[in-house]
Amino acid sequence: MTFLIINGPNLNLLGLREPDIYGREDYNSLQRFIYDCCVSEGIKPLLFQSNHEGSIVDRIQDAYGEADGIVINPAAYTHTSVAILDALKAVQIPAVEVHLSDISARERFRRISYPGMACLRSFVGLGFEGYRQAILYLKTYLENERRGA
Ligand code: DQA
Repeated sequence: MTFLIINGPNLNLLGLREPDIYGREDYNSLQRFIYDCCVSEGIKPLLFQSNHEGSIVDRIQDAYGEADGIVINPAAYTHTSVAILDALKAVQIPAVEVHLSDISARERFRRISYPGMACLRSFVGLGFEGYRQAILYLKTYLENERRGA
């Protein structure tokens, strides 16, 4: 199984960026965490981070025929991007959404998630652990699909 893990704008600044909300660990630590979670589950991880909406759309399109599942934290594009929603719907790759913080308990504008509308599930407010939960959830989902369950 191959999973594409997408992180959106400003997540490259983890550690520096609003540590009270996003924690003190940096993006390299997050990459290592995701990589280790995938490898211990026998999953090949493809890690991608971009600050640009169009690059994220391009990467989702390129995943067609390449990735079995997508784990995505669209960051600020969560609350604005119909383009990322449409890309996820277009490729029809099972996707799970992750947010480090609990977007339902913050400002009103963070309560809507456009990409989340094309995702099987969301994991919010769990920090790095949310990515592990998303990877495990997606793996189980795909295994059940293959079994025809
Ligand atoms: C975030 C939540 C978003 O509202 C915010 O714009 C981010 C990070 C999170 O992981 O908690 O950049 O996606």
